[in-house]
Amino acid sequence: MKSNIAPHIPIMVNEVLESLEGADLRVFFDGTLGAGGHAKAILEAHPEIERYIGCDKDPEALEIARKNLAPWAHKMEFIHGDFSKLDEYLKNLKVRSIDGFFLTSECHLCS
Ligand SMILES: C[S@@+](CC[C@H](N)C(=O)[O-])C[C@H]1O[C@@H](n2cnc3c(N)ncnc32)[C@H](O)[C@@H]1O
Repeated sequence: MKSNIAPHIPIMVNEVLESLEGADLRVFFDGTLGAGGHAKAILEAHPEIERYIGCDKDPEALEIARKNLAPWAHKMEFIHGDFSKLDEYLKNLKVRSIDGFFLTSECHLCS
């Protein structure tokens, strides 16, 4: 994520929230955390979330997300890495199952 460009605006937030509506999310995995815009919306809509595991391959994005998600710091677990290694990360965190996950595609502003 380039820090010298306008802050990333998460897309289709309403659609994302609709897809998760009614779900009882205790443990959530966000494989493309980015600046944390989707994460913020999901955390606000789902106060039942106990652990929000946010992964991103870009360390700069993770730092921005850490700041943006400060109100939920007690629920957040940040992983610098590739979401394809989900199994490995969950094993390390001793998480046996997740209640939901979220991935976005790369956009031209982020790459
Ligand atoms: C469109 S942005 C994410 C937007 C984010 N959900 C938000 O609200 O700010 C895509 C992000 O996915 C990350 N990313 C892309 N491929 C990845 C991968 N294989 N593993 C982890 N992160 C990845 C990029 O570094 C970038 O930060």
